[in-house]
Amino acid sequence: MSPPSMLGNRKDGSEIAVAENYADINWDELGFSLVPTDYMYVMKCAKGDKFSQGSIVPFGNIEISPSAGILNYGQGLFEGLKAHRTEDGHVLLFRPDENAQRMKRGADRLCMPSPSPGQFVNAVKQIVIANKRWVPPPGKGSLYIRPLLIGTGALLGVAPAPEYTFLIYCSPVGSYQKGALNLKVEDKLYRAISGCGGTGGIKSVTNYAPVYTAMADAKANGFSDVLFLDSATGKHIEEASACNVFVLKDNAISTPAIDGTILPGITRKSIIDIAIDLGYQVMERSVSVEEMLGADEMFCTGTAVVVNSVASVTYKETRVDYKTGPATLSSKLRKTLVGIQTGCLEDKKSWTVRVDSTI
Ligand SMILES: Cc1ncc(COP(=O)(O)O)c(C=O)c1O
Repeated sequence: MSPPSMLGNRKDGSEIAVAENYADINWDELGFSLVPTDYMYVMKCAKGDKFSQGSIVPFGNIEISPSAGILNYGQGLFEGLKAHRTEDGHVLLFRPDENAQRMKRGADRLCMPSPSPGQFVNAVKQIVIANKRWVPPPGKGSLYIRPLLIGTGALLGVAPAPEYTFLIYCSPVGSYQKGALNLKVEDKLYRAISGCGGTGGIKSVTNYAPVYTAMADAKANGFSDVLFLDSATGKHIEEASACNVFVLKDNAISTPAIDGTILPGITRKSIIDIAIDLGYQVMERSVSVEEMLGADEMFCTGTAVVVNSVASVTYKETRVDYKTGPATLSSKLRKTLVGIQTGCLEDKKSWTVRVDSTI
Protein backbone atom coordinates (compact mmCIF):
# COMPACT_ATOMS: atom_id res chain seq x y z
CA MET A 1 0.00 0.00 0.00
CA SER A 2 1.59 3.31 -1.00
CA PRO A 3 1.53 6.14 1.56
CA PRO A 4 -0.63 9.25 1.18
CA SER A 5 0.97 11.76 -1.11
CA MET A 6 0.39 15.28 0.25
CA LEU A 7 0.78 16.96 3.59
CA GLY A 8 -1.61 19.45 5.14
CA ASN A 9 -1.61 21.20 8.51
CA ARG A 10 -3.94 20.97 11.46
CA LYS A 11 -4.88 24.04 13.52
CA ASP A 12 -2.23 23.21 16.10
CA GLY A 13 0.41 23.31 13.39
CA SER A 14 1.08 19.58 13.35
CA GLU A 15 1.28 17.89 10.04
CA ILE A 16 -1.35 15.54 8.74
CA ALA A 17 -1.11 13.43 5.66
CA VAL A 18 -3.77 14.39 3.15
CA ALA A 19 -4.20 12.11 0.22
CA GLU A 20 -5.73 13.68 -2.86
CA ASN A 21 -5.24 10.60 -5.00
CA TYR A 22 -7.13 7.32 -4.74
CA ALA A 23 -6.06 4.18 -2.93
CA ASP A 24 -5.08 1.38 -5.27
CA ILE A 25 -8.04 -0.98 -4.85
CA ASN A 26 -10.80 -2.22 -7.11
CA TRP A 27 -13.62 0.21 -6.30
CA ASP A 28 -16.12 -1.93 -8.19
CA GLU A 29 -15.70 -4.79 -5.75
CA LEU A 30 -16.49 -3.05 -2.48
CA GLY A 31 -18.79 -4.91 -0.15
CA PHE A 32 -19.42 -4.26 3.52
CA SER A 33 -16.28 -5.70 5.05
CA LEU A 34 -13.21 -4.14 6.61
CA VAL A 35 -10.67 -2.64 4.25
CA PRO A 36 -7.98 -1.24 6.54
CA THR A 37 -7.07 2.38 5.77
CA ASP A 38 -3.97 4.44 6.64
CA TYR A 39 -4.93 6.16 9.89
CA MET A 40 -7.11 6.05 12.96
CA TYR A 41 -7.85 8.65 15.63
CA VAL A 42 -7.19 8.06 19.33
CA MET A 43 -8.03 10.19 22.37
CA LYS A 44 -7.81 9.02 25.99
CA CYS A 45 -9.26 10.30 29.21
CA ALA A 46 -9.14 9.23 32.86
CA LYS A 47 -12.37 8.52 34.76
CA GLY A 48 -13.72 11.80 36.13
CA ASP A 49 -11.76 13.88 33.58
CA LYS A 50 -12.74 15.41 30.26
CA PHE A 51 -11.40 14.39 26.88
CA SER A 52 -8.97 17.05 25.68
CA GLN A 53 -6.37 16.16 23.04
CA GLY A 54 -6.48 13.34 20.54
CA SER A 55 -4.25 12.46 17.62
CA ILE A 56 -4.15 10.74 14.28
CA VAL A 57 -1.99 7.61 14.38
CA PRO A 58 -1.30 4.83 11.86
CA PHE A 59 -4.14 2.28 11.72
CA GLY A 60 -3.22 -0.83 13.67
CA ASN A 61 -3.81 -3.03 16.67
CA ILE A 62 -4.22 -1.46 20.08
CA GLU A 63 -2.71 -2.72 23.30
CA ILE A 64 -5.20 -3.33 26.05
CA SER A 65 -5.04 -4.83 29.55
CA PRO A 66 -6.78 -8.22 29.92
CA SER A 67 -8.71 -6.62 32.76
CA ALA A 68 -9.92 -3.63 30.72
CA GLY A 69 -13.53 -2.60 31.42
CA ILE A 70 -14.56 -3.21 27.81
CA LEU A 71 -13.23 -6.78 27.75
CA ASN A 72 -14.68 -7.85 31.09
CA TYR A 73 -17.89 -5.89 31.52
CA GLY A 74 -18.70 -4.63 28.03
CA GLN A 75 -18.40 -0.96 28.91
CA GLY A 76 -18.43 0.37 25.38
CA LEU A 77 -20.35 2.11 22.64
CA PHE A 78 -19.92 2.41 18.92
CA GLU A 79 -21.24 4.72 16.25
CA GLY A 80 -21.47 4.53 12.49
CA LEU A 81 -21.62 7.25 9.85
CA LYS A 82 -20.55 7.74 6.26
CA ALA A 83 -18.57 10.19 4.14
CA HIS A 84 -19.45 10.52 0.45
CA ARG A 85 -17.40 12.00 -2.35
CA THR A 86 -19.37 14.42 -4.54
CA GLU A 87 -19.14 14.71 -8.31
CA ASP A 88 -17.25 18.01 -7.90
CA GLY A 89 -14.61 16.47 -5.63
CA HIS A 90 -15.77 17.46 -2.14
CA VAL A 91 -16.35 15.07 0.74
CA LEU A 92 -19.61 15.28 2.71
CA LEU A 93 -20.51 13.86 6.12
CA PHE A 94 -24.16 13.23 6.94
CA ARG A 95 -25.42 14.67 10.24
CA PRO A 96 -22.29 13.83 12.30
CA ASP A 97 -23.60 15.99 15.18
CA GLU A 98 -26.45 13.47 15.59
CA ASN A 99 -23.94 10.63 16.07
CA ALA A 100 -22.05 12.79 18.55
CA GLN A 101 -25.17 13.37 20.59
CA ARG A 102 -26.23 9.74 20.47
CA MET A 103 -22.79 8.72 21.73
CA LYS A 104 -23.09 11.25 24.56
CA ARG A 105 -26.48 9.83 25.60
CA GLY A 106 -25.04 6.31 25.55
CA ALA A 107 -21.98 7.40 27.53
CA ASP A 108 -24.19 8.92 30.23
CA ARG A 109 -26.11 5.63 30.46
CA LEU A 110 -22.93 3.52 30.66
CA CYS A 111 -21.14 5.81 33.11
CA MET A 112 -18.45 6.96 30.70
CA PRO A 113 -17.06 10.38 29.89
CA SER A 114 -17.72 11.30 26.26
CA PRO A 115 -16.09 13.66 23.79
CA SER A 116 -18.07 16.88 23.34
CA PRO A 117 -20.07 17.06 20.10
CA GLY A 118 -17.47 19.56 18.81
CA GLN A 119 -14.60 17.19 19.61
CA PHE A 120 -16.48 14.28 18.04
CA VAL A 121 -17.21 16.07 14.76
CA ASN A 122 -13.71 17.52 14.60
CA ALA A 123 -12.16 14.08 15.10
CA VAL A 124 -14.42 12.61 12.39
CA LYS A 125 -13.31 15.34 9.99
CA GLN A 126 -9.64 14.66 10.81
CA ILE A 127 -10.00 10.96 10.15
CA VAL A 128 -11.67 11.61 6.79
CA ILE A 129 -8.97 14.06 5.75
CA ALA A 130 -6.21 11.67 6.78
CA ASN A 131 -7.84 8.80 4.87
CA LYS A 132 -9.22 10.81 1.97
CA ARG A 133 -7.75 8.51 -0.67
CA TRP A 134 -10.02 5.78 0.74
CA VAL A 135 -13.23 7.72 0.11
CA PRO A 136 -14.65 5.87 -2.92
CA PRO A 137 -15.21 7.68 -6.21
CA PRO A 138 -18.76 9.07 -6.66
CA GLY A 139 -21.25 6.27 -7.23
CA LYS A 140 -18.91 3.52 -6.01
CA GLY A 141 -19.70 3.58 -2.29
CA SER A 142 -18.74 5.57 0.77
CA LEU A 143 -16.24 5.75 3.60
CA TYR A 144 -17.85 4.10 6.62
CA ILE A 145 -16.61 5.76 9.81
CA ARG A 146 -16.67 3.79 13.05
CA PRO A 147 -16.19 5.78 16.29
CA LEU A 148 -15.73 3.71 19.46
CA LEU A 149 -15.89 4.79 23.09
CA ILE A 150 -14.54 2.07 25.35
CA GLY A 151 -13.44 1.55 28.93
CA THR A 152 -9.76 0.67 28.47
CA GLY A 153 -8.61 1.09 32.07
CA ALA A 154 -7.83 -2.06 34.09
CA LEU A 155 -10.02 -3.18 37.01
CA LEU A 156 -11.24 -6.35 38.65
CA GLY A 157 -14.54 -5.72 40.40
CA VAL A 158 -17.72 -4.64 38.59
CA ALA A 159 -17.27 -0.86 38.25
CA PRO A 160 -16.69 1.85 35.67
CA ALA A 161 -13.18 1.61 34.18
CA PRO A 162 -10.52 4.04 35.38
CA GLU A 163 -9.61 5.10 31.80
CA TYR A 164 -11.50 5.57 28.49
CA THR A 165 -10.48 5.59 24.86
CA PHE A 166 -12.30 7.33 22.04
CA LEU A 167 -11.09 5.78 18.81
CA ILE A 168 -12.20 6.21 15.21
CA TYR A 169 -11.31 3.97 12.33
CA CYS A 170 -12.85 3.77 8.89
CA SER A 171 -13.25 1.55 5.87
CA PRO A 172 -14.46 2.10 2.31
CA VAL A 173 -17.74 0.23 1.79
CA GLY A 174 -20.20 -0.63 -0.93
CA SER A 175 -23.66 -2.08 -0.37
CA TYR A 176 -24.53 -3.68 2.97
CA GLN A 177 -27.17 -5.96 1.53
CA LYS A 178 -27.76 -7.23 -1.96
CA GLY A 179 -31.37 -6.78 -3.01
CA ALA A 180 -34.62 -6.55 -1.07
CA LEU A 181 -34.81 -8.28 2.32
CA ASN A 182 -36.57 -11.43 3.44
CA LEU A 183 -37.15 -11.03 7.17
CA LYS A 184 -37.93 -13.68 9.73
CA VAL A 185 -39.89 -12.56 12.79
CA GLU A 186 -38.13 -13.86 15.90
CA ASP A 187 -40.70 -14.84 18.53
CA LYS A 188 -38.49 -16.46 21.17
CA LEU A 189 -35.39 -14.32 21.57
CA TYR A 190 -35.61 -10.59 22.21
CA ARG A 191 -33.18 -7.84 21.36
CA ALA A 192 -33.92 -5.47 24.23
CA ILE A 193 -36.10 -5.43 27.33
CA SER A 194 -39.29 -3.42 27.05
CA GLY A 195 -39.94 -0.24 28.93
CA CYS A 196 -37.59 2.44 30.04
CA GLY A 197 -34.33 1.70 31.77
CA GLY A 198 -32.82 -0.84 29.37
CA THR A 199 -30.10 -0.16 26.85
CA GLY A 200 -31.92 -0.93 23.58
CA GLY A 201 -31.98 2.79 22.79
CA ILE A 202 -28.21 3.28 22.84
CA LYS A 203 -25.47 1.80 20.69
CA SER A 204 -23.99 -0.28 23.49
CA VAL A 205 -21.68 -2.99 22.15
CA THR A 206 -23.53 -5.42 24.42
CA ASN A 207 -26.70 -5.14 22.29
CA TYR A 208 -25.25 -6.87 19.28
CA ALA A 209 -23.84 -10.32 20.14
CA PRO A 210 -27.18 -11.40 21.73
CA VAL A 211 -28.70 -11.05 18.25
CA TYR A 212 -26.33 -13.52 16.61
CA THR A 213 -28.15 -16.76 17.50
CA ALA A 214 -31.40 -15.59 15.95
CA MET A 215 -29.57 -14.08 12.99
CA ALA A 216 -27.54 -17.22 12.31
CA ASP A 217 -30.67 -19.34 12.51
CA ALA A 218 -32.56 -17.03 10.13
CA LYS A 219 -29.65 -16.97 7.64
CA ALA A 220 -29.31 -20.75 7.76
CA ASN A 221 -32.95 -20.90 6.67
CA GLY A 222 -32.45 -18.51 3.74
CA PHE A 223 -33.60 -15.25 5.36
CA SER A 224 -31.66 -11.99 5.14
CA ASP A 225 -32.24 -10.74 8.68
CA VAL A 226 -34.33 -11.03 11.83
CA LEU A 227 -37.18 -8.77 12.89
CA PHE A 228 -37.47 -8.49 16.67
CA LEU A 229 -40.66 -8.09 18.70
CA ASP A 230 -41.28 -6.23 21.96
CA SER A 231 -40.38 -8.42 24.92
CA ALA A 232 -43.39 -7.40 27.04
CA THR A 233 -46.17 -8.71 24.78
CA GLY A 234 -44.42 -10.23 21.75
CA LYS A 235 -47.15 -8.59 19.66
CA HIS A 236 -45.42 -5.48 18.30
CA ILE A 237 -42.54 -5.12 15.90
CA GLU A 238 -39.40 -3.32 17.05
CA GLU A 239 -36.43 -3.36 14.67
CA ALA A 240 -34.10 -5.64 12.73
CA SER A 241 -30.57 -6.49 13.92
CA ALA A 242 -29.03 -3.21 12.72
CA CYS A 243 -31.80 -1.14 11.16
CA ASN A 244 -35.15 0.48 11.87
CA VAL A 245 -38.35 -0.56 10.10
CA PHE A 246 -41.25 1.26 8.47
CA VAL A 247 -44.58 0.05 7.02
CA LEU A 248 -46.73 1.81 4.43
CA LYS A 249 -50.51 1.44 4.20
CA ASP A 250 -52.33 3.66 1.69
CA ASN A 251 -50.74 7.08 2.21
CA ALA A 252 -49.72 6.55 5.84
CA ILE A 253 -46.31 5.47 7.03
CA SER A 254 -45.81 3.99 10.50
CA THR A 255 -42.66 3.16 12.37
CA PRO A 256 -42.22 1.86 15.93
CA ALA A 257 -41.93 4.73 18.41
CA ILE A 258 -38.66 5.45 20.20
CA ASP A 259 -39.39 4.25 23.74
CA GLY A 260 -36.04 3.04 25.02
CA THR A 261 -35.96 -0.36 23.35
CA ILE A 262 -35.14 0.51 19.76
CA LEU A 263 -32.23 2.56 18.48
CA PRO A 264 -33.14 6.14 17.50
CA GLY A 265 -31.70 5.83 14.00
CA ILE A 266 -30.40 8.94 12.30
CA THR A 267 -31.56 7.56 8.96
CA ARG A 268 -34.98 6.88 10.52
CA LYS A 269 -35.21 10.48 11.70
CA SER A 270 -34.14 11.81 8.28
CA ILE A 271 -36.54 9.53 6.38
CA ILE A 272 -39.44 10.70 8.56
CA ASP A 273 -38.67 14.31 7.57
CA ILE A 274 -38.23 13.46 3.89
CA ALA A 275 -41.50 11.47 3.82
CA ILE A 276 -43.41 14.33 5.45
CA ASP A 277 -41.95 16.74 2.88
CA LEU A 278 -43.15 14.36 0.13
CA GLY A 279 -46.70 14.64 1.53
CA TYR A 280 -46.99 11.40 3.50
CA GLN A 281 -48.52 11.11 6.93
CA VAL A 282 -45.90 9.59 9.27
CA MET A 283 -46.80 8.06 12.62
CA GLU A 284 -44.35 6.97 15.32
CA ARG A 285 -46.31 4.47 17.38
CA SER A 286 -46.70 0.79 18.25
CA VAL A 287 -47.06 -1.33 15.12
CA SER A 288 -48.60 -4.75 15.65
CA VAL A 289 -47.50 -7.87 13.81
CA GLU A 290 -50.99 -8.11 12.23
CA GLU A 291 -50.75 -4.56 10.96
CA MET A 292 -47.34 -5.24 9.47
CA LEU A 293 -48.65 -8.38 7.73
CA GLY A 294 -51.42 -6.26 6.16
CA ALA A 295 -49.15 -3.42 4.97
CA ASP A 296 -48.70 -2.48 1.29
CA GLU A 297 -44.98 -1.96 1.61
CA MET A 298 -42.26 -2.33 4.21
CA PHE A 299 -38.70 -1.03 4.35
CA CYS A 300 -35.66 -0.78 6.62
CA THR A 301 -33.45 2.23 7.29
CA GLY A 302 -29.94 2.62 8.68
CA THR A 303 -26.55 4.11 7.88
CA ALA A 304 -25.31 0.80 6.49
CA VAL A 305 -28.50 -0.32 4.71
CA VAL A 306 -29.55 3.24 3.70
CA VAL A 307 -33.19 2.49 2.76
CA ASN A 308 -33.95 -1.04 1.62
CA SER A 309 -37.23 -2.66 0.64
CA VAL A 310 -38.50 -5.69 2.50
CA ALA A 311 -39.57 -8.31 -0.03
CA SER A 312 -41.14 -10.67 2.50
CA VAL A 313 -41.78 -11.25 6.18
CA THR A 314 -42.27 -14.66 7.71
CA TYR A 315 -44.04 -14.91 11.06
CA LYS A 316 -44.40 -18.47 12.39
CA GLU A 317 -45.98 -20.28 9.40
CA THR A 318 -47.23 -17.15 7.62
CA ARG A 319 -45.26 -15.51 4.82
CA VAL A 320 -46.31 -12.16 3.37
CA ASP A 321 -44.78 -10.61 0.24
CA TYR A 322 -44.52 -6.88 -0.26
CA LYS A 323 -44.13 -4.62 -3.24
CA THR A 324 -40.49 -4.02 -4.28
CA GLY A 325 -38.77 -2.33 -7.20
CA PRO A 326 -38.33 1.16 -8.63
CA ALA A 327 -41.98 2.21 -8.16
CA THR A 328 -41.92 1.78 -4.37
CA LEU A 329 -41.90 4.53 -1.78
CA SER A 330 -38.76 2.94 -0.39
CA SER A 331 -36.98 3.49 -3.70
CA LYS A 332 -38.15 7.12 -3.86
CA LEU A 333 -37.00 7.79 -0.29
CA ARG A 334 -33.65 6.13 -0.90
CA LYS A 335 -33.04 8.23 -4.02
CA THR A 336 -33.84 11.43 -2.15
CA LEU A 337 -31.69 10.55 0.85
CA VAL A 338 -28.71 9.41 -1.23
CA GLY A 339 -29.12 12.48 -3.44
CA ILE A 340 -28.72 14.72 -0.39
CA GLN A 341 -25.87 12.65 1.08
CA THR A 342 -23.88 12.75 -2.16
CA GLY A 343 -24.51 16.40 -2.96
CA CYS A 344 -26.63 15.59 -6.04
CA LEU A 345 -29.77 17.10 -4.49
CA GLU A 346 -30.01 20.41 -2.68
CA ASP A 347 -29.50 20.00 1.07
CA LYS A 348 -32.30 22.29 2.24
CA LYS A 349 -32.03 21.13 5.86
CA SER A 350 -28.27 21.63 6.25
CA TRP A 351 -27.75 17.95 7.04
CA THR A 352 -24.46 17.56 5.22
CA VAL A 353 -21.13 18.82 6.53
CA ARG A 354 -18.36 19.48 4.05
CA VAL A 355 -14.91 18.23 5.02
CA ASP A 356 -12.28 20.67 3.84
CA SER A 357 -8.77 19.40 3.27
CA THR A 358 -7.44 21.14 6.40
CA ILE A 359 -9.25 21.97 9.64
C1 LIG B 1 -29.94 -1.74 16.22
C2 LIG B 1 -29.89 -0.66 15.21
N1 LIG B 1 -31.05 -0.08 14.85
C3 LIG B 1 -31.06 0.93 13.94
C4 LIG B 1 -29.91 1.38 13.34
C5 LIG B 1 -29.97 2.51 12.37
O1 LIG B 1 -29.40 3.68 12.91
P1 LIG B 1 -28.75 4.78 11.98
O2 LIG B 1 -29.79 5.16 11.01
O3 LIG B 1 -28.38 5.90 12.89
O4 LIG B 1 -27.57 4.15 11.34
C6 LIG B 1 -28.70 0.77 13.67
C7 LIG B 1 -27.46 1.19 13.02
O5 LIG B 1 -26.69 1.87 13.57
C8 LIG B 1 -28.68 -0.25 14.65
O6 LIG B 1 -27.53 -0.83 15.03
